[in-house]
Amino acid sequence: MALILGIESSCDETAAALVTHDRRILSHRLAGQEEAHRPFGGVVPELAARAHVEMAVPLVEAALADAGVRLADVDAIAATAGPGLIGGVMVGLMTGKALAHAAGKPFIAVNHLEGHALSPRLAEPNLNFPYLLLLASGGHCQLLFVRGVGDYARLATTIDDAAGEAFDKTAKLLGLGFPGGPAVEQAALEGDAKAVRLPRPLLGADEPHFSFAGLKSAVLRARDAGLYRPVDIAASFQLAVIDCLIDRTKRAIDRSEGATALVIAGGVAANQAIRSALSALAEREGLDFVAPPSWLCTDNGAMIAWAGAERFAAGPVDDRNVPARPRWPLDPTAEKARGAGVKA
Ligand code: KG4
Ligand code: ZN
Repeated sequence: MALILGIESSCDETAAALVTHDRRILSHRLAGQEEAHRPFGGVVPELAARAHVEMAVPLVEAALADAGVRLADVDAIAATAGPGLIGGVMVGLMTGKALAHAAGKPFIAVNHLEGHALSPRLAEPNLNFPYLLLLASGGHCQLLFVRGVGDYARLATTIDDAAGEAFDKTAKLLGLGFPGGPAVEQAALEGDAKAVRLPRPLLGADEPHFSFAGLKSAVLRARDAGLYRPVDIAASFQLAVIDCLIDRTKRAIDRSEGATALVIAGGVAANQAIRSALSALAEREGLDFVAPPSWLCTDNGAMIAWAGAERFAAGPVDDRNVPARPRWPLDPTAEKARGAGVKA
């Protein structure tokens, strides 16, 4: 059974993992960079790239040691080639290419978004194509009709901020700390979600696109009003995000004939309140619901190794000349969303 080494370095986690095509995760190692970025309240690309340089090789060594295998035992090496912060992508991509070259193994360039999109199939053996995927992370918020490996139709995207970005900015505005998503989720547990009236951008709109910039501005106004506790703003914000995700995803379900499951992935899918709301939606719509465990939703090496395993199983690959790409859409044919690129 094919054994794949996966390397991830597109944002602020350096990660390496060994995964087989029969879904055994032999090892996965991850080095976060929270301490480096915390003073800045967000990811600083140059610091991220430098940390990847330090951590990439030791993490690969640790993952191999944990799994009890040598580089010579792997069948292929996969690394993220984009999209992401270009400095970090280049570090992981070159590490993967160099290891593949030295060990005489095929190299697989993985699209980070495809890593997220296929990771639910690593977690759930019974998840078959096609499925509807809500991919919500720090850089993306998309609804994708996943027909097969490498075959994605983008039904919707955000016209401004990504959902995770909205969580991160809200955390910063409310002084809840970094990284923002888990901090807002934690604060929301102690708050009253009905305390602050916040907008639900694009609710009811025909196309299933997302928008979160206006919500973030409303959080800023609520904070400056000085009338509300931060935990109440956090809870109200999270509920507004959930209402938007549910409404938009419901629209996409109506356009996803043949889909057997509603699937979520990406860092925001680690949020328990969001998981339960989407699970309830799937049940109402008669769809199976699949959400990978939280550690597999946020960036990790296993999802890159798994996407590599799926690509490797589909036929011969040789991505040795693939460039690092800051942008790399899963569905290059998708039209630009109306209003896209307008940031508030
Ligand atoms: O997929 P990911 O690890 O990296 C990207 O590819 O962007 O996603 C990171 C994003 C961040 O914006 C983070 O705040 C958000 O996912 N996130 C969460 C939670 N955990 C991570 N958002 C809401 N609730 C969470 N528990
Ligand atoms: Zn990601």
